[in-house]
Amino acid sequence: MTPSSPLEGKHIVLGICGGIAAYKSVSLLRLFIKAGAEVQVVITPAGKQFITPVTLSALSHKPVVSEFFTANTGEWHSHVDLGMWADCMVIAPATASTIGKMANGIADNMLVTTYLSAKSQVFVAPAMDLDMMAHPSTTRNIDLLRSYGNIIIEPEDGYLASGLVGKGRMEEPENILKVVEQFFEKASDKTLKGKKVLITAGPTYEKIDPVRFIGNFSTGKMGFALAAEFARRGADVTLVAGPVSLPTPDHNIRRIDVMSAREMLEACETECGDSDYAVMCAAVADYAPENELDRKIKREHEDVPVLRLKKNPDIAATLGRMKREGQTLVGFALETDHELEHAVEKLQRKNLDFIVLNSMRTPGAGFGTDTNAVTIISRDGTKAEIGLKSKAEVASDIIDNII
Ligand code: C5P
Repeated sequence: MTPSSPLEGKHIVLGICGGIAAYKSVSLLRLFIKAGAEVQVVITPAGKQFITPVTLSALSHKPVVSEFFTANTGEWHSHVDLGMWADCMVIAPATASTIGKMANGIADNMLVTTYLSAKSQVFVAPAMDLDMMAHPSTTRNIDLLRSYGNIIIEPEDGYLASGLVGKGRMEEPENILKVVEQFFEKASDKTLKGKKVLITAGPTYEKIDPVRFIGNFSTGKMGFALAAEFARRGADVTLVAGPVSLPTPDHNIRRIDVMSAREMLEACETECGDSDYAVMCAAVADYAPENELDRKIKREHEDVPVLRLKKNPDIAATLGRMKREGQTLVGFALETDHELEHAVEKLQRKNLDFIVLNSMRTPGAGFGTDTNAVTIISRDGTKAEIGLKSKAEVASDIIDNII
């Protein structure tokens, strides 16, 4: 046993599907056991054609589960209990068929029902022929899994069982082990304990009259993912949220709901004094109506009303002016052209330490999506590119960069 492994004592459900890479699952199982984990293998009916349950049960010291019940005794195998028992679930190899079932909730075998019942982190290591891997159906299903928060362990390029060469080889067991170990290392990371973090998220609504407003398409998902990740690492988080329909992701987060940019500014001015990190993720409306009407504008008016606007306060720039020694201020930039130049200009003008650039041009990134791709630019000009990942993973990468 590796005494220092973060997998020691962890409960892992290892899901095995019917693909030629199933032979590598034996090594993966051995590595998990060597690292001190308790492993329950769940195999699909097709998986058993590739690797025998006898090998797997001998190595895991547990009967392998495949059917909903044992035929001769009638013993019921509870996928719900298994899902609750698991500290994580690793599906390796994951075939196109199982990925499709997982993405769409087709619960016709024990592996998929366990997946749907699992409350813990799920890792998916696809393995298939290159054309299956590249098919839009597969890529769409993998994107769906990513959007559910599953971690996809991308297959490698290389020789495939078919004799073809391309992307589809299951990642090597040693590397799958590393990904799972890193996850648990991070999960036990409470290095931000005692740190105070202020986050703004979502849009702001600027009232025109009692029933209308100026707003934008922000849903708050990126800011909420950041709040969740900071809280998970032990930080004391205050989340100032514009009008969004998201639940607070962690009961340790203090949430202040606001409507307009002015209300958001007031909350931030009050809260930012003793914060160690302030992350301005909100898509604040730049303009508000000059006068908010107390009665609904009527359509029956002869003239089309003219809306006069006034500039909203810039919250990030205000905090930038108030910034004290030791405080880190992070802003976001959503650009459509000359992206880097505009982002760097904003970083300097608002006295930020980092700016996270979202490109409207990357499919799957930006407003409302569950995924994002960003560039993190620091004050000294260093740039870190984060490719398309779930917003939870992007949040983790952003925090790794700024601390
Ligand atoms: O200037 P622009 O709106 O593009 O800058 C984006 C950054 O500034 C984001 O971090 C956003 O949260 C912040 N911002 C703000 N107050 C505003 C406008 C933007 O805090 N009124």
